[in-house]
Amino acid sequence: MARPKTAAASLLSLSALPLALSQFVQGPANLTKTEGYYNLTVRYKEVASEICELTPGVKSYSGYVDVAPQQSVFWWFFEARNVDPEEAPLTVWINGGPGSSSMIGLFEEIGPCWISEEGAVEYNEFAWNNVSNMLFVDHPAQVGFSYSDPVPGYVDANMGNIIALPNATCPDYALDMGTCGTYSSPNVSNTANTTEGAAPSMWKTLQGFMGAFPEYSANGVHFATESYGGHYGPIFNEYFLTQNELIQEDKLPGAHEIDLQSVMIGNGWYDPRIQYQAFYWFTVSPGNTYDYRPYNSSVESMIYNALYGPGNCYDQSIDCNNRGENALCEVADTFCYNNVESVLGRYAGRSEYDIRELVPDPFPYGYWRDYLNSAKIQQALGAFVNYTGDGGSTVGSAFGNTGDDDRESGTVAASRSLADQGVYTVHFAGDSDFICNWAGIEVVMDHIDAPGYSEAGYVNISTSDAIVHGQVKQSDNVAFARIYESGHEVPFYQPLVALEMFERVVSGFDVATGERRVAKGEGFKTVGTPKSTYREGNATVQFEVVPEGSTYNTTTNEPDLPAGDGTEAAAKSKRGLSGRSTKMLSRRANQQVSRPVRLPRF
Ligand SMILES: *[C@@H]1O[C@H](CO)[C@@H](O)[C@H](O)[C@H]1NC(C)=O
Ligand SMILES: *[C@@H]1O[C@H](CO)[C@@H](O)[C@H](O)[C@H]1NC(C)=O
Ligand SMILES: *[C@@H]1O[C@H](CO)[C@@H](O)[C@H](O)[C@H]1NC(C)=O
Ligand SMILES: *[C@@H]1O[C@H](CO)[C@@H](O)[C@H](O)[C@H]1NC(C)=O
Ligand SMILES: *[C@@H]1O[C@H](CO)[C@@H](O)[C@H](O)[C@H]1NC(C)=O
Ligand SMILES: *[C@@H]1O[C@H](CO)[C@@H](O)[C@H](O)[C@H]1NC(C)=O
Ligand SMILES: *[C@@H]1O[C@H](CO)[C@@H](O)[C@H](O)[C@H]1NC(C)=O
Ligand SMILES: *[C@@H]1O[C@H](CO)[C@@H](O)[C@H](O)[C@H]1NC(C)=O
Ligand SMILES: *[C@@H]1O[C@H](CO)[C@@H](O)[C@H](O)[C@H]1NC(C)=O
Ligand SMILES: *[C@@H]1O[C@H](CO)[C@@H](O)[C@H](O)[C@H]1NC(C)=O
Ligand SMILES: *[C@@H]1O[C@H](CO)[C@@H](O)[C@H](O)[C@H]1NC(C)=O
Repeated sequence: MARPKTAAASLLSLSALPLALSQFVQGPANLTKTEGYYNLTVRYKEVASEICELTPGVKSYSGYVDVAPQQSVFWWFFEARNVDPEEAPLTVWINGGPGSSSMIGLFEEIGPCWISEEGAVEYNEFAWNNVSNMLFVDHPAQVGFSYSDPVPGYVDANMGNIIALPNATCPDYALDMGTCGTYSSPNVSNTANTTEGAAPSMWKTLQGFMGAFPEYSANGVHFATESYGGHYGPIFNEYFLTQNELIQEDKLPGAHEIDLQSVMIGNGWYDPRIQYQAFYWFTVSPGNTYDYRPYNSSVESMIYNALYGPGNCYDQSIDCNNRGENALCEVADTFCYNNVESVLGRYAGRSEYDIRELVPDPFPYGYWRDYLNSAKIQQALGAFVNYTGDGGSTVGSAFGNTGDDDRESGTVAASRSLADQGVYTVHFAGDSDFICNWAGIEVVMDHIDAPGYSEAGYVNISTSDAIVHGQVKQSDNVAFARIYESGHEVPFYQPLVALEMFERVVSGFDVATGERRVAKGEGFKTVGTPKSTYREGNATVQFEVVPEGSTYNTTTNEPDLPAGDGTEAAAKSKRGLSGRSTKMLSRRANQQVSRPVRLPRF
């Protein structure tokens, strides 16, 4: 397809703009408009190399698929680095939330670059586009750079939601908060509010992209996600397969089949009836492999009661899933979150995303958020709105109103069904994550009950560095991998095993060795122990807040303290709080602690 080269953007310099206007997004000039499959409008541009993928000649595009009036879904694509992009498979990545931007996965986990504390673009040698074309999608509408109507507004500093302004002038109260910008008009009608309801817009986004760039999806499609992706992954992909059938019956003119090969889900949230219990299993009994118990016995029995006491979390979640009413599910989920889940932060001061760390946790680094809110980057990406990680929580609220988080939503049956239809399904979990911990996911795997899975055992995963980073239990095209010394975002903490596992999966090989081709119904099983018994112990558990600016050392699995003002400050901060910058801390704290909205399963 002839694709006009985009002229290098002639950027307006900030100083040329009136001060008031400089807060707001100018809106992109010169997006190329084309039609994808299924008559979907796609608007995009080529992204210059220095923005993220630093490898010369490896192309990147970003843009929007207009999936509905007032629903434009942002995507960012990178060609494969080491394979001819027209010979490589396509992998779609989405984060969870609900309402979390996939820029999290791009900049903290598997994208071609990461952003340093100084705002520099750094090359990620463990990027997943080493082996596959990669498409990152901000989904559903209003998440990240996706939008409904772009309007001038600000984000309320306390509640975190978007407030529209009458015009593009930033009033004093919003100037003080420093959050003036252009945002999606916060309307819960212009996005999805359930997992099932979000599937069609994801499918349309792929129809749009695949139609605009057919050369990048000619070699199979893979779908990778995490966290709330335990909901999204099974349900969306099951929907894709159903759509494929309709296409075969000529019922969706203009649409193209998605040649789905694999689904990978990291630290997924599938069944709240199991996974709310797992908060207790992981922290109290039988506990975790870090020999770390965060609570005293009084708090332990409080959680036990909040979970199993009559009419409490477990009963409410059963009720929600039996009766399915929005109000029941919303109340149940809020109850469970407040009394069973968020207790970890409240009583132990620990991160739900990594039990080894106290809050505020500087890992993974969040410097990319400021990067995405510069006019230069917005122009380079063709963005219409300022970047918000969670769409000013509009999408979170929309899903909150239906209590989707407390619904199992058919995720277990869909996971099984994908496997039965021959899709390679790989579930994996960093084993220090609490929010979607592996104690719960192991039980979810038993419920999925894929053929042969219960007779398989755990074996070590081999990697090119000859260090054992985890174990896997696999039966044919279904696997569960436990990754050691890893919080919620596995590729950040354990980039090598994550990439090698990904490469094995997209090429159809077993997770443990990458040497055996796997397929449904062949009778391949890993032969090992019924339980994964390796224990890390508490050597990497931190008992002081790790200062902002520290780096995560993937060799020691411990923080390397910020360099700069010498060993004195570093030694101080190792002992206590005196070395850290309060400004940085409060910025982080705003994101993770004091905001009254719940922590997303991102
Ligand atoms: C947009 O395209 C026009 C004509 O193709 C060109 O003159 C202009 O410089 C471009 N603007 C930007 C910002 O790239
Ligand atoms: C989509 O476009 C095709 C032509 O490319 C046209 O025949 C068809 O009617 C259109 N469908 C819809 C739903 O607009
Ligand atoms: C990823 O690809 C780059 C470029 O070819 C290469 O330098 C790098 O070593 C690869 N990463 C890994 C972990 O093999
Ligand atoms: C923008 O709205 C504010 C508040 O309503 C008003 O005071 C101001 O005059 C408006 N500015 C412009 C340029 O219209
Ligand atoms: C929104 O983006 C503009 C650049 O287009 C930037 O100047 C402004 O600071 C951003 N707002 C926020 C709150 O980041
Ligand atoms: C929200 O969007 C819906 C559908 O686009 C529209 O009908 C409604 O008027 C909007 N609500 C507000 C408050 O703007
Ligand atoms: C660390 O683990 C050891 C046993 O390996 C245990 O005795 C000790 O109490 C643990 N420390 C903490 C703070 O949990
Ligand atoms: C247990 O921990 C909680 C929260 O830190 C504290 O309020 C309470 O006093 C402790 N109880 C006992 C018996 O130590
Ligand atoms: C969820 O969205 C559907 C479809 O837009 C709408 O009919 C329903 O009222 C919404 N539910 C809630 C609780 O907001
Ligand atoms: C598996 O790895 C562990 C280290 O985590 C090692 O002690 C053990 O010997 C390995 N097992 C096999 C069968 O290689
Ligand atoms: C990580 O720790 C190891 C062992 O202490 C050290 O040799 C290495 O330099 C550290 N890595 C980085 C990137 O600092």
